[in-house]
Amino acid sequence: MTRLLAVSDLHVGMADNRPIVERLRPASADEWLIVAGDVAERVADIEWALGLLASRFARVIWTPGNHELWTLRDDPVQLRGAERYDHLVALCRRLGVLTPEDPYAVWEGPAGPVAIAPVFALYDYSFRTAATKQESLERAFRSGVVCTDEFFLHPDPYPSREAWCHARVAETERRLAAHDPDIPLILVSHWPLVRELTDILWYPEFAQWCGTELTAGWHRRFRTQVVVYGHLHIPRTTWHDGVRFEEVSIGYPREWRRRGHPRGLLREILAA
Ligand SMILES: [Fe+2]
Ligand SMILES: [Fe+2]
Repeated sequence: MTRLLAVSDLHVGMADNRPIVERLRPASADEWLIVAGDVAERVADIEWALGLLASRFARVIWTPGNHELWTLRDDPVQLRGAERYDHLVALCRRLGVLTPEDPYAVWEGPAGPVAIAPVFALYDYSFRTAATKQESLERAFRSGVVCTDEFFLHPDPYPSREAWCHARVAETERRLAAHDPDIPLILVSHWPLVRELTDILWYPEFAQWCGTELTAGWHRRFRTQVVVYGHLHIPRTTWHDGVRFEEVSIGYPREWRRRGHPRGLLREILAA
């Protein structure tokens, strides 16, 4: 038997999460691993984790989370925005890890082949809780629930994170529309593709950093077998319009110490 596995939100910038990554091993040498973002913030940490996983799994497929896109002051790599993303894509190519910039890899599943489409669509504040972005952000700052992206995730050369998001959405839709519909897709995104998934958040103000309404119909419009995502740090399985959605986060030490890893460290997406 071989499996298609997934994980996200490894957060190896936190020392206590590194032993978890060291424990991630395939049961057999031909297993594939999806890594749905938030590996770490600093490039050296991202390289360590993805390099280790690429040496163990037959294929690793990565898409960025918000944390990879932060430019922290103590990271020797001070690239921002799209240049930082391009740098990480080049790093992945050196490691043999697939990214949203590569052709979709095809995995031979139990019911035939599936194509794994890592997508990077970011967010545009359309999951906000007030009429305008400004009001929604003001409310968040007043309540103290503010995503650190506001300080470290720079959109350069785009004028805003939403402009970068809209460019990414347009490019991703073009790729997905060009995909052969005979081969069903596994859509992989760090951010939830449908807003409903954020209804579970303890702080509804946080939803504005969690995705874009522009991706709401992708799992219906493009032939999708499973959607894999993370970012919320709430590992679970839900169904939307008959499509399985898998939240595959490890999360922060304070989170997994409290809840454990009720779904295991690696989620089985498909088995053959
Ligand atoms: Fe995360
Ligand atoms: Fe995240």
